[in-house]
Amino acid sequence: MLDQLHALKDKGLRELEALREVTQLPEWHRQYLSKKGELTQFLKQLGQLSAEERPALGKAANEVKQSLSEQFELHQKQLQEKKLNEALESDEIDVTLPGRPAPRGHLHPCTQALRRIASVFGEMGFQVYESPEVETDENNFQLLNIPSYHPARDMWDTFWINDEVVLRTHTSPGQIRAMREFYPEPIRIILPGKVYRYEQITPRSEHQFYQIEGLAVGRNIKMTDLIGVITEYSRKMYGMERKVRIRGSYFPFTEPSIEVDMDCNLCDGEGCRVCKYAGWLEVAGAGMVHPVVLKNGGYDPEEWSGFAFGFGLERPIMLQHGVEDIRYFYGNDLKFLHQF
Ligand code: PHE
Repeated sequence: MLDQLHALKDKGLRELEALREVTQLPEWHRQYLSKKGELTQFLKQLGQLSAEERPALGKAANEVKQSLSEQFELHQKQLQEKKLNEALESDEIDVTLPGRPAPRGHLHPCTQALRRIASVFGEMGFQVYESPEVETDENNFQLLNIPSYHPARDMWDTFWINDEVVLRTHTSPGQIRAMREFYPEPIRIILPGKVYRYEQITPRSEHQFYQIEGLAVGRNIKMTDLIGVITEYSRKMYGMERKVRIRGSYFPFTEPSIEVDMDCNLCDGEGCRVCKYAGWLEVAGAGMVHPVVLKNGGYDPEEWSGFAFGFGLERPIMLQHGVEDIRYFYGNDLKFLHQF
């Protein structure tokens, strides 16, 4: 019987070696190692043996079973690897080809400009302060010295959320928030962000646009500091030869109020289409922080003074690049955006 067993083993191993496909493996397994397989059938005969013969043969049979199982596993693994390699080699995809470049976007022109502006003011010691776009009537108007009856409210066509809440019409309410947060420290910040106005949408006006507000509060801050900061800003942004001029103006939250112009950087003040032959471009509304506003922010106007300014972001980009319609900035048209 021992010979029979070894013959079985040899036959099994020979047949196993001869298998070339993974798909042939189950049939072999069924034939040799399953419950109905040849080895099991053989083991069943052990019962007929005498008690002396049985242990030796049982042991030999188990060894054969183990050896067949091990060889089966090994061969299975080899065939699987072979199949995988063949699949890789015959694959149509040439993995050595260079990949297609992933399309890469870039920053929106407004974001690019905002970052440059923040860095120019950063060099002068201004930090960026962010303030919410949804504001109270109180911050957007009242605390900026614009009571509800004040005709100056007409300067800002307003989106009302309800009787007390608005979409901010300018970044100036951030002045109040900043002062209340930083008191009693001196302040030197810019407040960039979106503002909203209930306006007819035309090539020159959108209902949403960016403003950059500036605020400095300290002791002995003077109008000349304000003019100096805006001159420095204009030169860093548009060339060291830039000149600025100021005109008297009116805002309820600054006193005195001014408007700042810069000589046109496209014609050097000669007069061109961009500056409408005036030689000057409007840069910002500005002024010394009104004593009432200082007080509303928590600062005693007898001790403290400050300046503030505010300007729009899109218009200068339009002038600089000859963009004819402000709506392009928010139209999500890649043909437009790719140009920046
Ligand atoms: N908030 C003003 C506007 O939107 C601009 C401004 C800001 C003027 C700060 C003076 C001081 O028109």
